[in-house]
Amino acid sequence: MSLSAPIQTRRPSSPGTPPFEAAFSAGMRDLDGTALRDMLRLAQVPGIVNFGGGLPAPELFPMQQIAQASTRALEKYGWRAVQYSTTEGFLPLREWLAEHTHLASPVTPDHIQIMTGGQQSLDLIAKILIDPGDTLLVETPTYMGAVQSFRPYRPNFAAVPTDEQGIDMDALAALLRDLAAQGRTPKFIYTIPNFQNPTGRTLSLERRQLLLDLTEQYGVLVVEDDPYGQLRFSGESLPSLAALMLERTGDDTDQSHVIYCSSFSKTLAPGLRDAWVQAAAPIIDRLVLAKQGADMCSPTLNQMIVTELLPLLPSQIARLRESYAGRAERMLRALGRELPSGVTYTVPQGGMFLWLTLPEAVDTAAMLPRAVENGVAYMIGACFHALGGGHHTMRLCYSNAGLEQIDQGVAALAQTIQTELER
Ligand SMILES: Cc1ncc(COP(=O)(O)O)c(C=O)c1O
Repeated sequence: MSLSAPIQTRRPSSPGTPPFEAAFSAGMRDLDGTALRDMLRLAQVPGIVNFGGGLPAPELFPMQQIAQASTRALEKYGWRAVQYSTTEGFLPLREWLAEHTHLASPVTPDHIQIMTGGQQSLDLIAKILIDPGDTLLVETPTYMGAVQSFRPYRPNFAAVPTDEQGIDMDALAALLRDLAAQGRTPKFIYTIPNFQNPTGRTLSLERRQLLLDLTEQYGVLVVEDDPYGQLRFSGESLPSLAALMLERTGDDTDQSHVIYCSSFSKTLAPGLRDAWVQAAAPIIDRLVLAKQGADMCSPTLNQMIVTELLPLLPSQIARLRESYAGRAERMLRALGRELPSGVTYTVPQGGMFLWLTLPEAVDTAAMLPRAVENGVAYMIGACFHALGGGHHTMRLCYSNAGLEQIDQGVAALAQTIQTELER
Protein backbone atom coordinates (compact mmCIF):
# COMPACT_ATOMS: atom_id res chain seq x y z
CA MET A 1 0.00 0.00 0.00
CA SER A 2 1.72 3.18 -1.05
CA LEU A 3 1.17 6.58 0.41
CA SER A 4 0.20 8.76 -2.48
CA ALA A 5 -1.24 12.26 -2.41
CA PRO A 6 -4.29 12.45 -4.68
CA ILE A 7 -3.67 15.98 -5.86
CA GLN A 8 -0.25 17.39 -6.65
CA THR A 9 -0.32 20.88 -8.02
CA ARG A 10 2.30 22.90 -6.16
CA ARG A 11 2.83 26.61 -6.60
CA PRO A 12 6.27 27.00 -8.27
CA SER A 13 8.75 28.75 -5.96
CA SER A 14 10.32 31.93 -7.28
CA PRO A 15 14.10 32.37 -7.52
CA GLY A 16 15.64 33.53 -4.26
CA THR A 17 12.90 31.97 -2.11
CA PRO A 18 14.35 30.57 1.13
CA PRO A 19 14.48 26.75 1.12
CA PHE A 20 11.18 26.28 2.89
CA GLU A 21 10.36 23.01 1.13
CA ALA A 22 13.45 21.34 2.57
CA ALA A 23 12.61 22.75 6.01
CA PHE A 24 9.14 21.28 6.17
CA SER A 25 8.66 18.00 8.00
CA ALA A 26 8.32 14.98 5.74
CA GLY A 27 4.72 14.59 6.90
CA MET A 28 3.75 18.11 5.88
CA ARG A 29 5.60 17.83 2.58
CA ASP A 30 3.23 14.96 1.75
CA LEU A 31 0.24 17.31 2.10
CA ASP A 32 -0.97 19.48 -0.72
CA GLY A 33 -4.23 21.38 -0.63
CA THR A 34 -3.46 23.71 -3.54
CA ALA A 35 -5.99 22.16 -5.90
CA LEU A 36 -8.69 22.39 -3.24
CA ARG A 37 -7.81 26.03 -2.54
CA ASP A 38 -7.94 26.82 -6.27
CA MET A 39 -11.30 25.09 -6.53
CA LEU A 40 -12.75 27.03 -3.59
CA ARG A 41 -11.46 30.26 -5.13
CA LEU A 42 -13.09 29.35 -8.44
CA ALA A 43 -16.39 28.84 -6.70
CA GLN A 44 -16.28 32.36 -5.19
CA VAL A 45 -17.63 33.86 -8.45
CA PRO A 46 -20.63 36.04 -7.48
CA GLY A 47 -24.03 34.66 -8.46
CA ILE A 48 -22.84 31.11 -8.78
CA VAL A 49 -24.80 28.24 -7.19
CA ASN A 50 -22.20 26.64 -4.97
CA PHE A 51 -22.87 22.99 -4.13
CA GLY A 52 -19.16 22.64 -3.34
CA GLY A 53 -18.54 23.78 0.25
CA GLY A 54 -19.96 21.62 3.05
CA LEU A 55 -21.61 24.51 4.86
CA PRO A 56 -24.73 24.41 7.06
CA ALA A 57 -27.58 26.82 6.23
CA PRO A 58 -26.63 30.16 7.86
CA GLU A 59 -30.25 31.34 8.05
CA LEU A 60 -30.90 28.45 10.45
CA PHE A 61 -28.22 29.45 12.95
CA PRO A 62 -30.08 30.35 16.18
CA MET A 63 -28.56 33.84 16.26
CA GLN A 64 -30.83 35.43 18.84
CA GLN A 65 -30.50 32.48 21.21
CA ILE A 66 -26.70 32.50 20.79
CA ALA A 67 -26.63 36.20 21.71
CA GLN A 68 -28.83 35.58 24.78
CA ALA A 69 -26.82 32.51 25.80
CA SER A 70 -23.62 34.51 25.51
CA THR A 71 -24.97 37.29 27.77
CA ARG A 72 -26.30 34.74 30.26
CA ALA A 73 -22.97 32.88 30.36
CA LEU A 74 -21.02 36.09 31.00
CA GLU A 75 -23.45 37.16 33.72
CA LYS A 76 -23.48 33.75 35.37
CA TYR A 77 -19.77 32.96 35.28
CA GLY A 78 -18.14 36.43 35.14
CA TRP A 79 -14.36 36.31 34.61
CA ARG A 80 -14.41 32.51 34.66
CA ALA A 81 -15.98 32.63 31.21
CA VAL A 82 -12.81 34.13 29.76
CA GLN A 83 -10.19 32.50 32.01
CA TYR A 84 -8.24 29.36 31.05
CA SER A 85 -10.29 26.31 31.96
CA THR A 86 -9.59 22.62 32.43
CA THR A 87 -8.22 20.77 29.42
CA GLU A 88 -10.96 18.11 29.72
CA GLY A 89 -13.62 20.78 29.22
CA PHE A 90 -16.46 22.53 31.07
CA LEU A 91 -17.87 19.99 33.54
CA PRO A 92 -21.61 20.76 33.12
CA LEU A 93 -21.23 20.24 29.37
CA ARG A 94 -19.31 16.98 29.85
CA GLU A 95 -21.95 15.80 32.33
CA TRP A 96 -24.71 16.46 29.81
CA LEU A 97 -22.78 14.74 27.01
CA ALA A 98 -22.02 11.75 29.23
CA GLU A 99 -25.75 11.28 29.71
CA HIS A 100 -26.95 12.10 26.20
CA THR A 101 -24.32 10.83 23.73
CA HIS A 102 -25.53 7.20 23.91
CA LEU A 103 -28.96 7.45 25.50
CA ALA A 104 -29.28 3.76 26.32
CA SER A 105 -25.76 3.56 27.77
CA PRO A 106 -24.79 6.71 29.62
CA VAL A 107 -21.07 7.06 30.33
CA THR A 108 -19.28 9.13 32.98
CA PRO A 109 -17.86 12.61 32.30
CA ASP A 110 -14.40 11.03 32.65
CA HIS A 111 -15.07 9.40 29.29
CA ILE A 112 -15.79 12.70 27.55
CA GLN A 113 -13.19 15.14 26.21
CA ILE A 114 -14.30 18.51 24.81
CA MET A 115 -12.52 19.47 21.60
CA THR A 116 -12.13 22.64 19.51
CA GLY A 117 -14.19 21.29 16.62
CA GLY A 118 -14.39 17.71 15.42
CA GLN A 119 -11.39 18.52 13.28
CA GLN A 120 -9.28 18.80 16.41
CA SER A 121 -10.61 15.44 17.60
CA LEU A 122 -9.25 13.84 14.43
CA ASP A 123 -5.96 15.69 14.67
CA LEU A 124 -5.35 14.70 18.29
CA ILE A 125 -6.48 11.11 17.74
CA ALA A 126 -3.86 10.98 14.98
CA LYS A 127 -1.30 12.53 17.32
CA ILE A 128 -1.83 9.95 20.07
CA LEU A 129 -2.18 6.87 17.85
CA ILE A 130 -0.19 7.04 14.63
CA ASP A 131 3.46 6.09 14.29
CA PRO A 132 5.12 6.47 10.86
CA GLY A 133 4.40 3.41 8.75
CA ASP A 134 1.25 2.39 10.68
CA THR A 135 -1.55 1.10 8.51
CA LEU A 136 -4.83 3.01 8.68
CA LEU A 137 -8.03 1.81 7.07
CA VAL A 138 -10.17 4.49 5.47
CA GLU A 139 -13.41 4.28 3.53
CA THR A 140 -13.24 5.00 -0.19
CA PRO A 141 -14.26 7.76 -0.61
CA THR A 142 -13.73 9.43 2.77
CA TYR A 143 -13.68 12.86 4.44
CA MET A 144 -10.65 14.68 3.08
CA GLY A 145 -10.20 16.65 6.32
CA ALA A 146 -9.53 13.39 8.17
CA VAL A 147 -6.88 12.33 5.68
CA GLN A 148 -5.35 15.78 6.07
CA SER A 149 -5.17 15.30 9.85
CA PHE A 150 -3.73 11.78 9.59
CA ARG A 151 -1.22 12.22 6.75
CA PRO A 152 1.38 14.35 8.59
CA TYR A 153 1.95 11.39 10.94
CA ARG A 154 3.07 9.36 7.90
CA PRO A 155 0.75 6.36 7.97
CA ASN A 156 0.13 4.00 5.07
CA PHE A 157 -3.49 4.21 4.03
CA ALA A 158 -5.39 1.11 3.01
CA ALA A 159 -8.58 1.91 1.14
CA VAL A 160 -11.76 0.02 2.05
CA PRO A 161 -14.40 -0.11 -0.71
CA THR A 162 -17.94 1.04 0.04
CA ASP A 163 -21.34 0.54 -1.60
CA GLU A 164 -24.87 1.78 -0.99
CA GLN A 165 -24.86 0.41 2.57
CA GLY A 166 -21.44 1.74 3.53
CA ILE A 167 -18.28 -0.34 4.02
CA ASP A 168 -18.17 -3.54 1.96
CA MET A 169 -17.68 -6.07 4.75
CA ASP A 170 -16.42 -8.90 2.50
CA ALA A 171 -13.75 -6.57 1.13
CA LEU A 172 -12.84 -5.46 4.66
CA ALA A 173 -12.58 -9.06 5.85
CA ALA A 174 -10.34 -9.93 2.88
CA LEU A 175 -8.16 -6.88 3.47
CA LEU A 176 -7.73 -7.67 7.17
CA ARG A 177 -6.87 -11.27 6.30
CA ASP A 178 -4.26 -10.15 3.73
CA LEU A 179 -2.71 -7.66 6.11
CA ALA A 180 -2.60 -10.27 8.89
CA ALA A 181 -0.84 -12.65 6.50
CA GLN A 182 1.82 -9.92 6.06
CA GLY A 183 2.04 -9.55 9.84
CA ARG A 184 0.33 -6.16 9.77
CA THR A 185 -2.42 -5.04 12.14
CA PRO A 186 -4.00 -1.73 11.16
CA LYS A 187 -3.89 0.84 13.95
CA PHE A 188 -7.47 1.92 13.37
CA ILE A 189 -10.30 2.13 10.89
CA TYR A 190 -11.77 5.59 10.33
CA THR A 191 -15.47 5.52 9.49
CA ILE A 192 -18.40 7.94 9.20
CA PRO A 193 -21.40 5.62 9.61
CA ASN A 194 -24.20 8.21 9.31
CA PHE A 195 -24.84 10.23 6.12
CA GLN A 196 -21.21 10.00 5.27
CA ASN A 197 -19.19 12.93 4.03
CA PRO A 198 -18.90 12.81 1.01
CA THR A 199 -21.45 10.20 -0.17
CA GLY A 200 -24.42 10.72 2.17
CA ARG A 201 -24.54 6.93 2.69
CA THR A 202 -25.35 5.19 5.97
CA LEU A 203 -23.81 1.98 7.30
CA SER A 204 -26.57 -0.61 7.83
CA LEU A 205 -27.20 -2.09 11.28
CA GLU A 206 -26.08 -5.53 10.17
CA ARG A 207 -22.81 -4.12 8.87
CA ARG A 208 -22.27 -2.14 12.08
CA GLN A 209 -22.33 -5.41 13.99
CA LEU A 210 -20.03 -7.06 11.43
CA LEU A 211 -17.60 -4.16 11.65
CA LEU A 212 -17.42 -4.59 15.42
CA ASP A 213 -16.94 -8.37 15.02
CA LEU A 214 -14.09 -7.94 12.55
CA THR A 215 -12.30 -5.16 14.37
CA GLU A 216 -12.56 -7.05 17.68
CA GLN A 217 -11.26 -10.19 16.01
CA TYR A 218 -8.23 -8.43 14.50
CA GLY A 219 -7.57 -5.99 17.37
CA VAL A 220 -8.19 -2.84 15.31
CA LEU A 221 -9.44 0.35 16.97
CA VAL A 222 -12.49 2.06 15.43
CA VAL A 223 -12.61 5.84 15.05
CA GLU A 224 -16.31 6.61 14.59
CA ASP A 225 -16.86 10.13 13.28
CA ASP A 226 -20.48 11.17 13.68
CA PRO A 227 -21.08 14.88 13.10
CA TYR A 228 -24.26 14.29 11.05
CA GLY A 229 -26.07 11.54 13.02
CA GLN A 230 -28.64 13.96 14.50
CA LEU A 231 -29.65 15.18 11.06
CA ARG A 232 -31.71 12.16 10.00
CA PHE A 233 -34.79 13.11 7.98
CA SER A 234 -35.97 9.69 6.76
CA GLY A 235 -35.66 6.03 7.76
CA GLU A 236 -35.01 4.67 11.22
CA SER A 237 -32.29 5.92 13.54
CA LEU A 238 -29.49 3.40 14.00
CA PRO A 239 -27.39 2.98 17.12
CA SER A 240 -23.82 4.24 16.90
CA LEU A 241 -20.96 1.74 16.78
CA ALA A 242 -19.96 3.05 20.21
CA ALA A 243 -23.44 2.32 21.62
CA LEU A 244 -23.49 -1.17 20.08
CA MET A 245 -20.08 -1.81 21.58
CA LEU A 246 -21.25 -0.67 25.02
CA GLU A 247 -24.07 -3.23 24.74
CA ARG A 248 -21.41 -5.89 24.13
CA THR A 249 -19.24 -4.83 27.07
CA GLY A 250 -22.19 -4.50 29.48
CA ASP A 251 -21.64 -0.72 29.54
CA ASP A 252 -17.99 -1.09 30.53
CA THR A 253 -16.69 1.95 28.63
CA ASP A 254 -13.06 1.06 29.25
CA GLN A 255 -13.48 -2.25 27.42
CA SER A 256 -14.71 -0.55 24.23
CA HIS A 257 -12.34 -0.22 21.29
CA VAL A 258 -14.54 2.44 19.63
CA ILE A 259 -13.47 6.09 19.81
CA TYR A 260 -16.59 8.15 19.16
CA CYS A 261 -16.40 11.74 17.84
CA SER A 262 -19.20 14.24 17.37
CA SER A 263 -19.66 17.98 17.19
CA PHE A 264 -22.08 20.87 17.63
CA SER A 265 -20.95 22.33 14.29
CA LYS A 266 -23.82 20.90 12.30
CA THR A 267 -26.51 21.19 14.99
CA LEU A 268 -25.76 24.66 16.44
CA ALA A 269 -23.07 26.57 14.51
CA PRO A 270 -19.58 25.59 13.30
CA GLY A 271 -17.98 28.87 14.39
CA LEU A 272 -18.55 27.91 18.03
CA ARG A 273 -15.89 25.20 17.47
CA ASP A 274 -17.35 22.91 20.08
CA ALA A 275 -17.09 19.14 19.75
CA TRP A 276 -16.36 16.07 21.86
CA VAL A 277 -14.79 12.64 21.97
CA GLN A 278 -16.21 9.73 23.99
CA ALA A 279 -13.80 6.87 24.56
CA ALA A 280 -12.19 4.54 27.10
CA ALA A 281 -10.39 6.36 29.93
CA PRO A 282 -6.84 5.47 28.73
CA ILE A 283 -7.62 7.07 25.35
CA ILE A 284 -9.16 10.15 27.00
CA ASP A 285 -6.12 10.49 29.30
CA ARG A 286 -3.77 10.58 26.28
CA LEU A 287 -6.05 13.02 24.45
CA VAL A 288 -5.87 15.35 27.46
CA LEU A 289 -2.07 15.32 27.21
CA ALA A 290 -2.18 15.89 23.46
CA LYS A 291 -4.65 18.75 23.85
CA GLN A 292 -2.48 20.42 26.49
CA GLY A 293 0.19 20.66 23.81
CA ALA A 294 -2.26 21.84 21.15
CA ASP A 295 -4.41 24.58 22.72
CA MET A 296 -4.55 23.94 26.50
CA CYS A 297 -8.35 24.13 26.51
CA SER A 298 -11.22 24.84 24.16
CA PRO A 299 -12.57 28.41 24.39
CA THR A 300 -14.22 28.59 27.82
CA LEU A 301 -16.96 31.06 26.86
CA ASN A 302 -18.00 28.96 23.86
CA GLN A 303 -18.37 25.87 26.01
CA MET A 304 -20.58 27.85 28.39
CA ILE A 305 -22.64 29.25 25.51
CA VAL A 306 -23.20 25.74 24.15
CA THR A 307 -24.19 24.53 27.65
CA GLU A 308 -26.75 27.35 27.87
CA LEU A 309 -28.09 26.33 24.45
CA LEU A 310 -28.60 22.63 25.29
CA PRO A 311 -32.34 23.04 26.09
CA LEU A 312 -32.77 24.50 22.59
CA LEU A 313 -31.16 21.53 20.83
CA PRO A 314 -34.27 19.34 20.23
CA SER A 315 -36.24 22.12 18.49
CA GLN A 316 -33.15 23.33 16.61
CA ILE A 317 -32.45 19.82 15.33
CA ALA A 318 -36.10 19.42 14.29
CA ARG A 319 -35.85 22.67 12.27
CA LEU A 320 -32.66 21.51 10.58
CA ARG A 321 -34.10 18.10 9.72
CA GLU A 322 -37.19 19.62 8.18
CA SER A 323 -35.27 22.14 6.15
CA TYR A 324 -32.59 19.70 4.93
CA ALA A 325 -35.26 17.13 4.08
CA GLY A 326 -36.91 19.70 1.80
CA ARG A 327 -33.63 20.65 0.15
CA ALA A 328 -32.54 17.04 -0.36
CA GLU A 329 -35.90 16.15 -1.86
CA ARG A 330 -35.76 19.15 -4.19
CA MET A 331 -32.25 18.22 -5.32
CA LEU A 332 -33.19 14.57 -5.87
CA ARG A 333 -36.22 15.58 -7.93
CA ALA A 334 -34.12 17.97 -10.02
CA LEU A 335 -31.39 15.36 -10.53
CA GLY A 336 -34.00 12.79 -11.62
CA ARG A 337 -35.50 15.26 -14.06
CA GLU A 338 -32.36 16.85 -15.51
CA LEU A 339 -29.41 14.47 -15.47
CA PRO A 340 -28.40 12.67 -18.64
CA SER A 341 -28.54 8.89 -18.53
CA GLY A 342 -25.41 7.16 -17.28
CA VAL A 343 -25.10 9.42 -14.22
CA THR A 344 -26.01 7.82 -10.89
CA TYR A 345 -26.45 9.39 -7.47
CA THR A 346 -26.95 8.39 -3.85
CA VAL A 347 -30.20 9.00 -1.94
CA PRO A 348 -29.28 10.21 1.57
CA GLN A 349 -31.53 9.68 4.60
CA GLY A 350 -30.02 12.67 6.39
CA GLY A 351 -27.05 14.98 6.56
CA MET A 352 -25.95 17.47 3.93
CA PHE A 353 -24.49 15.60 0.94
CA LEU A 354 -25.10 13.37 -2.00
CA TRP A 355 -22.66 11.81 -4.43
CA LEU A 356 -22.70 11.63 -8.21
CA THR A 357 -20.92 9.03 -10.32
CA LEU A 358 -20.53 10.01 -13.97
CA PRO A 359 -19.46 7.90 -16.93
CA GLU A 360 -15.72 7.07 -16.72
CA ALA A 361 -14.95 9.36 -19.67
CA VAL A 362 -15.78 12.48 -17.66
CA ASP A 363 -13.08 14.04 -15.48
CA THR A 364 -14.93 16.21 -12.95
CA ALA A 365 -11.78 18.22 -12.10
CA ALA A 366 -11.30 19.19 -15.76
CA MET A 367 -15.04 19.92 -16.09
CA LEU A 368 -15.23 22.24 -13.07
CA PRO A 369 -14.18 25.51 -14.80
CA ARG A 370 -16.83 24.87 -17.48
CA ALA A 371 -19.46 24.21 -14.77
CA VAL A 372 -18.50 27.47 -13.07
CA GLU A 373 -18.89 29.28 -16.38
CA ASN A 374 -22.38 27.83 -16.52
CA GLY A 375 -23.08 29.08 -12.97
CA VAL A 376 -22.61 26.04 -10.72
CA ALA A 377 -19.80 24.61 -8.56
CA TYR A 378 -19.32 21.23 -6.89
CA MET A 379 -16.58 19.41 -5.00
CA ILE A 380 -14.52 17.13 -7.21
CA GLY A 381 -14.63 13.51 -6.08
CA ALA A 382 -10.88 12.91 -6.40
CA CYS A 383 -10.35 15.05 -3.26
CA PHE A 384 -12.04 12.35 -1.19
CA HIS A 385 -9.83 9.47 -2.31
CA ALA A 386 -6.86 8.95 0.00
CA LEU A 387 -5.10 6.77 -2.58
CA GLY A 388 -6.19 8.46 -5.79
CA GLY A 389 -9.08 7.56 -8.09
CA GLY A 390 -12.65 8.87 -8.25
CA HIS A 391 -11.90 11.22 -11.16
CA HIS A 392 -15.48 10.77 -12.50
CA THR A 393 -17.25 11.51 -9.20
CA MET A 394 -18.40 14.62 -7.35
CA ARG A 395 -19.99 15.66 -4.06
CA LEU A 396 -23.02 17.95 -3.99
CA CYS A 397 -23.99 19.76 -0.79
CA TYR A 398 -27.68 20.75 -0.59
CA SER A 399 -27.74 22.32 2.89
CA ASN A 400 -26.41 25.70 1.83
CA ALA A 401 -28.63 26.44 -1.19
CA GLY A 402 -32.24 27.68 -1.42
CA LEU A 403 -34.87 25.63 -3.26
CA GLU A 404 -34.86 27.74 -6.41
CA GLN A 405 -31.06 27.82 -6.42
CA ILE A 406 -31.10 24.04 -6.24
CA ASP A 407 -33.26 23.82 -9.39
CA GLN A 408 -31.10 26.38 -11.16
CA GLY A 409 -27.81 24.78 -10.09
CA VAL A 410 -28.85 21.24 -11.02
CA ALA A 411 -30.07 22.43 -14.46
CA ALA A 412 -26.69 24.13 -15.06
CA LEU A 413 -24.85 21.04 -13.86
CA ALA A 414 -26.89 18.71 -16.07
CA GLN A 415 -26.25 20.90 -19.08
CA THR A 416 -22.51 20.97 -18.33
CA ILE A 417 -22.40 17.18 -18.05
CA GLN A 418 -24.42 16.75 -21.25
CA THR A 419 -21.98 18.98 -23.15
CA GLU A 420 -19.06 17.09 -21.63
CA LEU A 421 -20.47 13.78 -22.79
CA GLU A 422 -20.79 15.13 -26.33
CA ARG A 423 -17.21 16.45 -26.47
C1 LIG B 1 -16.93 13.84 8.66
C2 LIG B 1 -16.48 15.11 9.29
N1 LIG B 1 -15.74 15.05 10.40
C3 LIG B 1 -15.31 16.17 11.02
C4 LIG B 1 -15.62 17.42 10.51
C5 LIG B 1 -15.09 18.61 11.24
O1 LIG B 1 -16.13 19.40 11.71
P1 LIG B 1 -15.97 20.44 12.90
O2 LIG B 1 -14.51 20.66 13.14
O3 LIG B 1 -16.64 21.69 12.43
O4 LIG B 1 -16.65 19.84 14.09
C6 LIG B 1 -16.37 17.53 9.35
C7 LIG B 1 -16.68 18.84 8.78
O5 LIG B 1 -17.30 19.03 7.78
C8 LIG B 1 -16.82 16.34 8.72
O6 LIG B 1 -17.56 16.35 7.61
